[in-house]
Amino acid sequence: MTTSAQSDGANTFNNTSGESFSAEKYFATQPPPPSLEQDVARVKDFLQKQLQERRKVVLVTSGGTTVPLELNVVRFLDNFSAGTRGATSAEYFLKAGYAVIFMHRQFSLQPFSRHYSHSTHPFLDFLDINEPSGSSAPSFGDIAVRPEERAQLLEVLSTYKAVQRAGTLLTLTFVTVNDYLWLLRAVSQEMSLLGRNCLYYLAAAVSDFFLPRQKMSVHKIQSGKGSLHIEMDQVPKILKPLVAEWTREGFIVSFKLETDEDLLVPKARQALARYGHQVVIGNELHRRKFEVVFVSPKSASPPSASPALSTEIAEPPSADYEETWLTIDLEQNPEKEIEEDIVAELVRRHARWIDNATRNV
Ligand code: PMT
Repeated sequence: MTTSAQSDGANTFNNTSGESFSAEKYFATQPPPPSLEQDVARVKDFLQKQLQERRKVVLVTSGGTTVPLELNVVRFLDNFSAGTRGATSAEYFLKAGYAVIFMHRQFSLQPFSRHYSHSTHPFLDFLDINEPSGSSAPSFGDIAVRPEERAQLLEVLSTYKAVQRAGTLLTLTFVTVNDYLWLLRAVSQEMSLLGRNCLYYLAAAVSDFFLPRQKMSVHKIQSGKGSLHIEMDQVPKILKPLVAEWTREGFIVSFKLETDEDLLVPKARQALARYGHQVVIGNELHRRKFEVVFVSPKSASPPSASPALSTEIAEPPSADYEETWLTIDLEQNPEKEIEEDIVAELVRRHARWIDNATRNV
């Protein structure tokens, strides 16, 4: 533990200056989550089944990762994301015939149950108790779904049951950025078995900074020492080994969230130039429910990744990339979900990409 009470009365964590971890160094020094082996066994079984049944598989990551500040965690930093994008998209991928590995932040929204979220549409509010005749207490037989809720419930429930019967949805959970990184590496290595038939849809909001285990306080940080100073290390950019090593053939879609819309396209191009994957979907925080931009390389085979590029690379040539804006009109159609169109577009692009690769063999 590297906490020290400074002479100015402040708590200081991680006395060394912040480091930038390579992926190798990260996995060599940070321990795997205890559930990893069990999760990998479930993923192997799931993928075997999908291979036999010749389904395409998509990995959807969803929700925000946390960064614990103590080993016995009381406090942590969190990343913004309710998990709406991931949970909604997972449903549309299932509808399009994909099998889905849904890797999500514990307690964030999930496919199907998201329609009955405790904050926007609480479960108990759509049930009624039919008053029993006489003085007897109500029984289970008296519980009824409100008439105005029935059509939607029936639709959601029957799709959910059909997915369960088909065995096309596997749910995995993460909390910390460490859980996320270990799980993403393990799942993508397993998925590489499927070659071009797998798609990666990286919608999770992943922490950029973390406290290595070796530098964390064991116990709850005490408040009696004045202000708190924490210096964090940089989380390795995981897209780099994902594209270059773990899953060379997968169709990889990453997301870019910005609050300044003017940065969306340049940042997306930078990511494509740096990692060499297939699509970046840019979304501005306040417009993300009705507008996104797809940015992708123009040529069918993307320019290969540029490992030498520094974080502050100059903007790559715009002629190498194309943008497709996708907008929906929520005033005209308030029930419409933009994920339906995002997924439809990706399903088309993935199929075209597989076709092109097959033709070029
Ligand atoms: O869940 P909602 O409330 O609906 O919100 C959805 C969303 C806005 C969170 C989602 O649409 C979104 O944009 N997710 C990505 C958030 C983001 O911009 O993350 P980033 O800039 O930290 O990372 C960009 C990409 O790099 C991501 O695809 C991420 O998987 C990847 N990354 C991030 C960190 C890291 N260390 N390594 C990475 O590879």
